[in-house]
Amino acid sequence: MAIQISPSLLASDFARLADEADRVSGADWLHVDVMDNHFVPNLTLGLPVVEALAKATSTPIDCHLMIEDPDRWAPGYVEAGASSVTFHVEAAAAPVRLARELRAKGARAGMGLKPATAIDAYEDLLPELDMLLVMTVEPGFGGQPFLDMCLPKIRRTRELVDRHGLEVWLQVDGGVSLETIERCAEAGADTFVAGSAVFGADDPNAMIESLRAAAASAG
Ligand code: DX5
Ligand code: ZN
Repeated sequence: MAIQISPSLLASDFARLADEADRVSGADWLHVDVMDNHFVPNLTLGLPVVEALAKATSTPIDCHLMIEDPDRWAPGYVEAGASSVTFHVEAAAAPVRLARELRAKGARAGMGLKPATAIDAYEDLLPELDMLLVMTVEPGFGGQPFLDMCLPKIRRTRELVDRHGLEVWLQVDGGVSLETIERCAEAGADTFVAGSAVFGADDPNAMIESLRAAAASAG
């Protein structure tokens, strides 16, 4: 399976977003964390900033919406230029309808699970998705320690995706670093979000390649 690295701009300098995007030119995606201070206790950025960033970079944007009422707001992020839009199942009123709408607008549809949300109830929903995001910290902040308790869920999700012969990408987000990425890859993840590990490195592009190599050797 192809390894993809999606650096989280949450750990970058928000006053210089376009320059920060340039510093990770070796990334497959740019992970943009949208938080509304309701679904999570933090507030980041929204549609106008995503729209401006999409115009300023050629790297595709992977929007992670940690917001209430994604049914109403998520499709707008496709119009703003995001190539992948992930909503949280805990917040969505009609996840199937929303995933179909995101796809119909031309984006990849992602669905996120907080650490305490099990995958099992969503097995039949997997064909509607392009990506399943397993949070490996409680969403809301960067720089938190990786939760090993999420590894069995990554493994179960990989089994379900493979059993159904699906091409759904399996993304992990939270505490992913050189120390933890191999565990995630070994459990079956193929798409890796890393914020502080990448933007805290002296050479972010070199760190992306190190993370990619570590995941490839373990997956
Ligand atoms: C947290 C965000 C993450 C965060 C990851 O709620 O969804 O994308 O930026 O940051 P690190 O890699 O530092 O844990
Ligand atoms: Zn995220």
